[in-house]
Amino acid sequence: MINSSTYNYLNSQETPFYYYDMELLEKSLISIKNEAALYNFQVHYAIKANANPRILSLIQSYGLGADCVSGNEIKRSIENGFPTNKIVFAGVGKSDKEIELALDTNIFCFNCESIPEIEVIEEIAKSKNKVANIALRINPNVNANTHHYITTGIAENKFGINPWEFEEIIGILKASKNLNLIGLHFHIGSQIVDLSVFKSLCIRINEIQDWFQSHQIIVEHINVGGGLGINYHQPDEEPIPDFKNYFAIFNEFLNLKANQKVHFELGRSVVCQCGSLISRVLYVKKGINTKFAILDAGMTELLRPALYQAFHKIENLSSNKALENYDVVGPICESSDCFGKAVSLPETKRNDLISIRSTGAYGEAMASEYNLRTIAKSFFSNDIK
Ligand code: LLP
Repeated sequence: MINSSTYNYLNSQETPFYYYDMELLEKSLISIKNEAALYNFQVHYAIKANANPRILSLIQSYGLGADCVSGNEIKRSIENGFPTNKIVFAGVGKSDKEIELALDTNIFCFNCESIPEIEVIEEIAKSKNKVANIALRINPNVNANTHHYITTGIAENKFGINPWEFEEIIGILKASKNLNLIGLHFHIGSQIVDLSVFKSLCIRINEIQDWFQSHQIIVEHINVGGGLGINYHQPDEEPIPDFKNYFAIFNEFLNLKANQKVHFELGRSVVCQCGSLISRVLYVKKGINTKFAILDAGMTELLRPALYQAFHKIENLSSNKALENYDVVGPICESSDCFGKAVSLPETKRNDLISIRSTGAYGEAMASEYNLRTIAKSFFSNDIK
């Protein structure tokens, strides 16, 4: 919801662009900080959701760590103030160069996803005479009940280590002087709105911890990943996700061993609702059975609808006329470049300003130059005088 001075500011900029409500981001961060502090939980922000420097520096100022999945994310998070001892490095395909960077910058921990990766980290750490802190990313085989493209914790999946590999890994770790096992890591998927899924995850983590304990291994850190979903249909009714109940579930159902610390890797839930993609209507075109509102933003600025058939609320900020249905599409030469079919909007005309909501996560971060388009700029609410 925006007021008239914000509207005038947005309307004076060249479209398309990303707009961030920094007050909302700040309120979300306060909620995360307060709710996580109740249980002494450590939250790492998943940089992949949005790596915009202004967003990152605000997030790190609230004491969050960084969850990175590439060498460039590690560099970007250091550049924006995240302390290296709060950086975790995940990903199924870490390159040798990225592993070297992570060792050279003394990050907190590698989340390891396979036996061959563990062996390469050991080799590189040895060549540098260093000890790498590692956590095992375990595939807990819990179904996240979310879109199949963003489900990661079921057995046949490229992510994580499966339980039948544990014994072999323990052998490798015992023989190694350059690897230090400090944690177990889990992440079962993204945009999870059914909180009972996290209870199932806790129960599975407890079983896995018992297995490790029976093999005389108790790690100091349990990282439960991210995945908390947001309300794409009614962003103004739920601008801040339910962090209170989310953290409370882990407090209630995780059986921790003495002195264990719990870590989270939240991406979408931190930044999603603070961002909107602002675009202008180029043309309204009559089809056979429908009208198309053709925008100057497309799948290059927001890939989610084309890639996952994702829903984003679309609003016409310039019109309050009677409602009509439009297929809202972008200018890219792909039929999947469509933000929504039969979207009910007030009567829409050329040059109207359109807001596509809940794009703070995986919007700007997934932008591309396809069709040789220019990467869109970003604007921030706290720059409006
Ligand atoms: N930790 C790991 C190991 C992950 O793979 C992810 C996300 C996160 C944390 C953060 O998850 P979140 O809290 O944001 O759900 N592009 C997709 C989402 C991909 C998520 C990938 N992994 C989308 O637009 O829906």
